[in-house]
This record gives sequence, structure tokens and C-alpha cells, in this order.
Amino acid sequence: MESEITPEKRDRKVKNVIPIFKKKPSDKKKEEEKGEGKKNFPVRVIAVTSGKGGVGKTSVVANLAYALAKMNKKILVLDADLSLANLDVSLGIVPRFNLHHVFLGEKRLSDIIVTGPGGMKIIPASSGVQELSELNEEQRLNFMEEIDLFDEEVDMLLIDTGAGISSNVMYFNAVAQDIIVVTSPEPTALTDAYALMKVMSLKYQEKNFKLLVNSVKSGKEAKEIFQNLSSAAEKFLPHLSIDYLGYILFDQKISLAIRQQRTVLDIYPNAQASKCFCTLAEKVSELFLTVPPQKGNIKFFWRDLLANARR
Ligand SMILES: Nc1ncnc2c1ncn2[C@@H]1O[C@H](COP(=O)(O)OP(=O)(O)OP(=O)(O)O)[C@@H](O)[C@H]1O
Ligand SMILES: [Mg+2]
Repeated sequence: MESEITPEKRDRKVKNVIPIFKKKPSDKKKEEEKGEGKKNFPVRVIAVTSGKGGVGKTSVVANLAYALAKMNKKILVLDADLSLANLDVSLGIVPRFNLHHVFLGEKRLSDIIVTGPGGMKIIPASSGVQELSELNEEQRLNFMEEIDLFDEEVDMLLIDTGAGISSNVMYFNAVAQDIIVVTSPEPTALTDAYALMKVMSLKYQEKNFKLLVNSVKSGKEAKEIFQNLSSAAEKFLPHLSIDYLGYILFDQKISLAIRQQRTVLDIYPNAQASKCFCTLAEKVSELFLTVPPQKGNIKFFWRDLLANARR
């Protein structure tokens, strides 16, 4: 599956106008009758991604979602990470069903969504992530219907993607409105983060990234890492803009919390890492949730995802 996003498509995404499926006037009327307009809440779609695996994406998504949920934000998490140490395991959730069952027509989208700690909602994707790109026409249409029935109000959709530059990861990044790139201080994590942004910009015309530096000894170390990375990017990829989102300190309490299948913020609220996650959640909320996106509701997201996954 090779997925290219043309500049044209990118423009549509930027404007959050994704007219993939043209509607007949009669359809519009039916939607109005169903009151669908009311259900089309605008939502921020943010992908949390990395070049190298194991740098802390899932920990960031779990704790950020938890912190935001505690701030009374309605957070939906899409667990699109195919690795074994995925979100449900680290949160102690055992979902019985996932997107795969929706594609089979056995479950509704609303049936597979589970409520996690703090009230966050989680869409378990599992093998469904790969299937997205392989749906036949009937499955696609069924899924589109499911999307139309989805009426959950959501402020932010956070996507825990896999690592690297495979197309499975890339199309989630490409449809998200914002991309948080997580890196650790290790040189290989940094070069892989750089490579990911390079590929995203050259192949998918993505120009803006937010960098989150994880597992650092200090805020100073994180800032230096950001500066080194962004000056390399300025030199060789001048069209890119990388913003500094913040840092999470290295803290054994994160691993201890994962072992207990809880978020660190939940069981060790005074840990150093927990304070970092609170700061991060405030910044994320300020950056992304103070001004609601005018358009770009969750249905657009799914439709765009399906369209990208297919190409
Ligand atoms: N700030 C931190 N301090 C200490 N340990 C951390 C920190 N962040 C993550 N870890 C540990 O690093 C390991 C990998 O983290 P995590 O699973 O979140 O990474 P990931 O990027 O999601 O990995 P994958 O690419 O495999 O999905 C976990 O064991 C976690 O406990
Ligand atoms: Mg992960």
C-alpha cells in the first residue's frame, strides 16, 4: 500500500475541508432530519508518533489522555500501535473487541469503545489498523455507515501510532491535524525523529511538528536536544517548522506504574514525571483546545483515514 498525499489534498486537510464523499441534496435532507448536524462536533486530531520505537509514545498518550480527562476534556484515544506493549496493556484494560470486529460487521463502533482511567475513551484498533488498508467495498461502506452513527462528543482524538516510517504509521500522521514527535535523548532516537519528519515533509507535505523530549535528566537537556535538532532541520529542511512542546523527565516511577497497569499520574501524582505530564497537558490544552477547530469533525477524520489508507 503506497500512500501519497498530493499538495491538493494537503490543502484540503489544512483547511479541514475534506470533500471526499459528495453528498446529494436528498442525503443532506436526511442528515438534517436525523439531527446529524448537531452531532458533528469539531474535534482536534493529534497523532503521537516517533521515528524509533520504545521512546515513550504509549506512556505519553496514556498520561496525557489521563491528565486531560481529569481537566474535564473529552478525550478519545485511538490505539493504533501494533506493538505488544500497547495502550490497553499499560492501562490494565482488556478490550474484548476491536476495529477488526467492526470491519467484520459483528460490532458497532460504539460497542468496541472502552472507558479507561479518568474517563478517557479508547478505541482498540489492534489488527484492525492493518485491515483499514485492505477493506473491500462492502466493508468500507459498512464502516462509513458506522461512522455516520458515531455521535460521541469528543474534544480531542489522540492517536498512539506505531514507530517508524511505514505507511501504516504515516497515514495516521497524515490525517492528523497536528503531530507530536516523541524522542528520547539517544542519538539513534534523534536521527530517527529527524528522518521521520523529513519523510513526512517530503512525501506528505507535512510542515509543522511539535517535539516532545522524553526521558531527560533536566529541562535544560531537553531544550539543548530541541535546539540541535531544529538547527539541523533549519539547515537541511528549511521548509520545516519544529516547535518545542516540552519534556518528560526520566523517572523510574513510569515503569513502576506500567507494571501496575496504571498511569503514573494516577498512582504517583507527586512523582517528577507526573508534574511533567500535568505541565504538558496544560500546554496541549492551551495550544489545541482553546480555539476549537471550525470544522474537521470525527467523521471527516475517519473518512480521510479510509481514503488515505486505500491509496
Ligand atoms: N520518562 C520516562 N522515564 C523512565 N522510563 C520511561 C519513560 N518513558 C517511557 N519509559 C519506559 O520506556 C519503555 C517504553 O515506553 P513506551 O512503551 O511508552 O514506548 P513506545 O514509544 O510506545 O514504544 P513502541 O514503539 O514499542 O510502541 C516503557 O517500559 C516505559 O516504562
Ligand atoms: Mg507504544
